[in-house]
Amino acid sequence: MVNLLVSFWFVFISSISADTCFNRSGFFPTNGTYDLNRRVMLSSLPSNVTANDGFYTTSTGQDPNRVYGLGMCVPGTEARSCSDCIMAASNGLVQNCTNQTEAIDWRMYRNTLCLVRYLNRSFYGSLGIDIIRDDYNTRDYQPNVTDFDRTWEALMIGLIENVSSENFAAGTRMLESSNTNIYGFMQCSRDISLQNCTRCLQQNVIDYRSCCRGRQGGTISRPSCFLRWEIFAFLGLPENIPLPEKDEKSISTGTIVAIVIVPIILLALGFGIWRKRKSYKAFTTENGYLSAAKRLTKTYNTALPDNGKEIRS
Ligand SMILES: *[C@@H]1O[C@H](CO)[C@@H](O)[C@H](O)[C@H]1NC(C)=O
Ligand SMILES: *[C@@H]1O[C@H](CO)[C@@H](O)[C@H](O)[C@H]1NC(C)=O
Ligand SMILES: *[C@@H]1O[C@H](CO)[C@@H](O)[C@H](O)[C@H]1NC(C)=O
Ligand SMILES: *[C@@H]1O[C@H](CO)[C@@H](O)[C@H](O)[C@H]1NC(C)=O
Ligand SMILES: *[C@@H]1O[C@H](CO)[C@@H](O)[C@H](O)[C@H]1NC(C)=O
Ligand SMILES: *[C@@H]1O[C@H](CO)[C@@H](O)[C@H](O)[C@H]1NC(C)=O
Ligand SMILES: *[C@@H]1O[C@H](CO)[C@@H](O)[C@H](O)[C@H]1NC(C)=O
Ligand SMILES: *[C@@H]1O[C@H](CO)[C@@H](O)[C@H](O)[C@H]1NC(C)=O
Ligand SMILES: *[C@@H]1O[C@H](CO)[C@@H](O)[C@H](O)[C@H]1NC(C)=O
Repeated sequence: MVNLLVSFWFVFISSISADTCFNRSGFFPTNGTYDLNRRVMLSSLPSNVTANDGFYTTSTGQDPNRVYGLGMCVPGTEARSCSDCIMAASNGLVQNCTNQTEAIDWRMYRNTLCLVRYLNRSFYGSLGIDIIRDDYNTRDYQPNVTDFDRTWEALMIGLIENVSSENFAAGTRMLESSNTNIYGFMQCSRDISLQNCTRCLQQNVIDYRSCCRGRQGGTISRPSCFLRWEIFAFLGLPENIPLPEKDEKSISTGTIVAIVIVPIILLALGFGIWRKRKSYKAFTTENGYLSAAKRLTKTYNTALPDNGKEIRS
């Protein structure tokens, strides 16, 4: 039951888009010059972001229709995933922000995170700290909310101290009263200074206290920073909890040995292997979030090795 609810949240949160069309910077006429510049700028982002280590700023056109854009992927994202994420965010902004001059999307797309932002003036290096949105799992961490809160704060304060030169930090901390980990993931836009990044992230911690205390999962977005936490691994975070060794590799090794060496044993084992496969399948479908978490660990295996420290470097 708990797994069902967790996986429900996972499906919800992995499809969520934090795209925001701001009315505060005014509007442009549909199909006008600004609109055209915006589309040209956005279409150049996927290739330029991946070609520039996952972070790129650019402007297109002349005043007063000049568009300033920014695209960013989380450090270590494979080029293909980065490009797909930027493209998804850009398409979403074009579709949803039909006439707003300013727009932002912190997008979670196929287990990675990216940022696309544009505006009709230069915003590079300036701190955007107004909250865009918070989304949280409506479930509190029932077993011990006090423990959850304390552990959450300790984790986040530790992560803020650990923010890398790419304005990124991720890690886990185990609850005191159970074997459950809280997973935390924070990223600032890479154009802002570490000092301003810290300020932005601290504001997320302050917001948590009023919006999301005890919630077992959630995200908080501001123009310059993003925070997500869960009680399961996500967005390429490594699984610290040892999982039962039931992956396809061990099954196929077993199968090969059986086929090549002892055909008779194959017959005897065949039934056993068939059952093992079957139970693995059932396991992954019932725990949708677990299979998704395993998949994303695989996706990141080449780019992001298996601990939080290496993620940051
Ligand atoms: C922005 O303006 C549009 C109409 O142009 C309106 O539908 C929308 O609710 C406004 N959004 C905000 C956040 O005020
Ligand atoms: C951006 O657009 C708004 C609304 O059209 C306008 O008031 C503002 O002057 C523009 N800013 C720049 C730097 O062009
Ligand atoms: C904008 O251009 C597209 C394609 O050229 C067209 O289909 C659409 O109707 C135009 N929209 C407006 C509001 O002019
Ligand atoms: C950015 O992308 C555009 C179009 O994809 C390309 O023409 C341009 O050379 C790229 N610029 C850089 C600096 O990579
Ligand atoms: C547009 O916004 C809606 C409502 O926030 C969202 O459900 C939808 O996925 C967005 N479209 C795209 C293409 O991102
Ligand atoms: C912006 O577009 C919305 C519909 O997408 C429309 O209702 C609104 O009037 C437009 N606002 C301006 C200032 O053009
Ligand atoms: C921090 O952000 C503010 C507001 O955008 C800016 O004025 C200031 O220069 C930034 N500080 C640093 C150290 O980058
Ligand atoms: C909750 O966890 C705290 C440790 O963080 C512990 O002191 C307290 O006794 C626990 N409460 C319950 C009801 O287990
Ligand atoms: C911060 O980094 C140190 C040193 O790498 C590590 O031991 C610690 O666990 C990290 N803190 C968090 C909350 O991940």
